[in-house]
Amino acid sequence: MTQDELKQAVARAALDYVPSAGVIGVGTGSTANYFIDELGKIKHRIDGAVASSEATAARLRGHGVEVVDLNNVNELAVYVDGADEITEHLHMIKGGGGALTREKIVAACSRQFICVADDSKLVGMLGRFPLPVEVIPMARSYAARELVKLGGQPVLRQGVTTDNGNIILDVHQLHILNPVELEEKINQITGVVTNGLFAARPADVLLLGADQGVKTFT
Ligand code: 5RP
Repeated sequence: MTQDELKQAVARAALDYVPSAGVIGVGTGSTANYFIDELGKIKHRIDGAVASSEATAARLRGHGVEVVDLNNVNELAVYVDGADEITEHLHMIKGGGGALTREKIVAACSRQFICVADDSKLVGMLGRFPLPVEVIPMARSYAARELVKLGGQPVLRQGVTTDNGNIILDVHQLHILNPVELEEKINQITGVVTNGLFAARPADVLLLGADQGVKTFT
C-alpha cells in the first residue's frame, strides 16, 4: 500500500471513535485531511467540530461540517489528529504543519486523543524529526539561544507565520530521552508559546496504518 492509502485506512478506522452526537476536535495535516473527507460522509452524526487550524476549518466547511468555537463547548469527546513522530508510549512530536499550539489546546480539552498515522511515524525515540517550537516574533533570537543551551540547533521556518501570528523554530539534533521533562523545560522559555512535544498529554489511542492492516495501540 502507498503511504496515502495507509493514511486513508487509518482515517476510516478513526470513524469508529466518533460519537453519535456532540462536537469533536479535528487536527491538521494530510492524515487529518483524509479523516475530514471520511467525516463528511457521516456529518449528520455529530453537531459540529472544533478545528485546530484555519486550513482544517476551511476543509470541514467544504464538507458541510459546522465549525464550532472552542469557547462555546465544555469538553470534546474525541480529538483526531496525525503526528510527525510517535512512540509506543504514545508520546508525539507534532507541528510539521505549524498548527501545534491550537492542536495542543484542542487536545487539552478532549477526553480521548486518537492519533492517526502511517507506520513511518512510529519511532523508538523522538527527535529525528526537528521539534517545532512556536515563538512570539520579538523573542526569536533569545528563544533560539536558550534552545541551543538545551542542546538543539534551531532553524527558523522560512516564510511561515502561524495562525496565531507567530514564528516557528524547528529544533534539530535533540536527543529526547525524557519527552515530558523537555516539553516542560522548553515551555518555560520566555517568549515560547508552546512546543511540538505532546508528552504531558499523550495520545490515548494510536491507529497505525501498515501493509498488514490498521494496528491499534493504547
Ligand atoms: C500539523 C501536525 C500534523 O499532525 C503532522 O505534521 C502530521 O502531518 P501529516 O498527517 O501530513 O503527516 O502536527 O501541525
